[in-house]
Amino acid sequence: MITNPVIETLMNRKSVRKYTDRRLSKEEMETIVRAGQQAPFASQLYSVIYSTEKPIAFNAAIWFVICVDVHKLERFMKVRGWDTVTNDLTLLLMGMQDAAYMAQNMVIAAESLGIGSCFLGAVSSSAQRIRALSEKLELPERVLPMVELVMGYPDEDFPPRPRYPLAFTLFEGRYPKLSDDDVKEAMKVMDDGYLEQGYYRKQNVKIQVEGGRSDDHTFDNYSWTEHISRKWGQWAASPDELLDAVRQRGFSLSRDML
Ligand SMILES: Cc1cc2nc3c(=O)[nH]c(=O)nc-3n(C[C@H](O)[C@H](O)[C@H](O)COP(=O)(O)O)c2cc1C
Repeated sequence: MITNPVIETLMNRKSVRKYTDRRLSKEEMETIVRAGQQAPFASQLYSVIYSTEKPIAFNAAIWFVICVDVHKLERFMKVRGWDTVTNDLTLLLMGMQDAAYMAQNMVIAAESLGIGSCFLGAVSSSAQRIRALSEKLELPERVLPMVELVMGYPDEDFPPRPRYPLAFTLFEGRYPKLSDDDVKEAMKVMDDGYLEQGYYRKQNVKIQVEGGRSDDHTFDNYSWTEHISRKWGQWAASPDELLDAVRQRGFSLSRDML
């Protein structure tokens, strides 16, 4: 693999869940957000709200909420005498991309300054979190909190976490027929990598199984693919509450809501 300072920064980044008490300067914070803004965009469909008021998760120095923002777009369209006709699903999909590329630019800019970060994704699955954040941050309609992001100076160090083998991710020309062995090999890379780091043991995190399924996993064999399977195999089956919360933000995602 080719390497240079940018690639090294990308390859060494990891989610940090323990921070020192050191604060970020205003210049550091603004540099990070300004570098975030320089990400490619469809229409700059985002806003970033921050606070340094403690407590912040993992004792981080700063908390950001990255929002998909259609409000500002519509404000300037109004100035130009236009109404939006594009459907909200398209606007949200575009906005999620704008906000995500922006947020990841922030993460890498921070990393290059020696500042660690961790996303917190509760708003993607919790109507309650969407409502609570919208109220606390006084978000206008057409602004949807997408993800929370905390940053600070790391108080822990460890190797980067594994990823799927490139052959399980990068396909030339067409999507291959993945054999069960291909899948098992990729699972092993991920699971062995997380187990080696004692990732879930250190965090003391293990999603409980529900509905009478037996659980013979200990931290010796509870790893990434089991964790992720338990998450998406048990959580948030109905989209109803989430759709309600998104609708309350002023977005309609189905025909009958129009
Ligand atoms: C959308 C999103 C939501 C996330 N939510 C959480 C979270 O709620 N809590 C947490 O500790 N980490 C969270 N993470 C961090 C991931 O757990 C982490 O990126 C992943 O395990 C890979 O590890 P790495 O970032 O150290 O390479 C989230 C990451 C993303 C992109």
